[in-house]
Amino acid sequence: MKIAVDGPAGAGKSTISKEVAKKLGIIYIDTGAMYRAIGLAAVRHGIDTADAEGVKSILGEVEVSISHEGGVQQIFLNGENVSEEIRLPEISVAASNVATIPEVRLKLVELQRRLAASCDVIMDGRDIGTYVLPDAELKIFLTASVEERAKRRLRELLEKGVDTDFESVRADMEYRDKNDSGREFAPLKAAEDSIILDNTSLTAEESAEEICRLAHDRGEVAQK
Ligand code: CDP
Repeated sequence: MKIAVDGPAGAGKSTISKEVAKKLGIIYIDTGAMYRAIGLAAVRHGIDTADAEGVKSILGEVEVSISHEGGVQQIFLNGENVSEEIRLPEISVAASNVATIPEVRLKLVELQRRLAASCDVIMDGRDIGTYVLPDAELKIFLTASVEERAKRRLRELLEKGVDTDFESVRADMEYRDKNDSGREFAPLKAAEDSIILDNTSLTAEESAEEICRLAHDRGEVAQK
């Protein structure tokens, strides 16, 4: 089974997808981490991530790969584990900028499709149901109010010791939502055959249970 989970920043995609993967015994693949790794590579090279030509000039020397340790995805940039560093707020914005460049997307989509071809997965991102895995058996579009999403992300960042506040988290989120939905190539949008799950007032556990229930229903449909 392939499950696609798309939605805006901070909707809870990764927390919930990880939980669903555990419950169903399938692999969770976080595609946002891959865009973050390329964003980080550009920042380390001192490239303005809004400069598409600059970003494209380093793509040939950027290798992104993943592994799973105890069910948790680790992300590598040219062999270096950058799983922690990619979570910094400036890398969120860098990721969203490099994600508008078709060459970046094509490079990562190839890796994503290859990974999904080898096992049962739940994959989260922005274009999984619409572009990466159009034949996924279950497509979820996960969303929540911008206030709730910013509150959740602020809590996460503060727990990690990042110095930030609600207003800047919300501003970053609104910038990314606009950038991700407005880009030409594979923008963020709900696939026509997706189920929209607004989890503003649901816990992560409740949302994960709902997705598992839907996955079981789809499984039964497939067997009939
Ligand atoms: O966790 P959060 O929702 O904040 O972001 P993420 O999933 O880690 O993704 C970071 C950025 O990568 C997003 O703002 C998108 O611009 C980009 N992205 C994308 O374009 N396509 C994907 N499939 C996944 C992420």
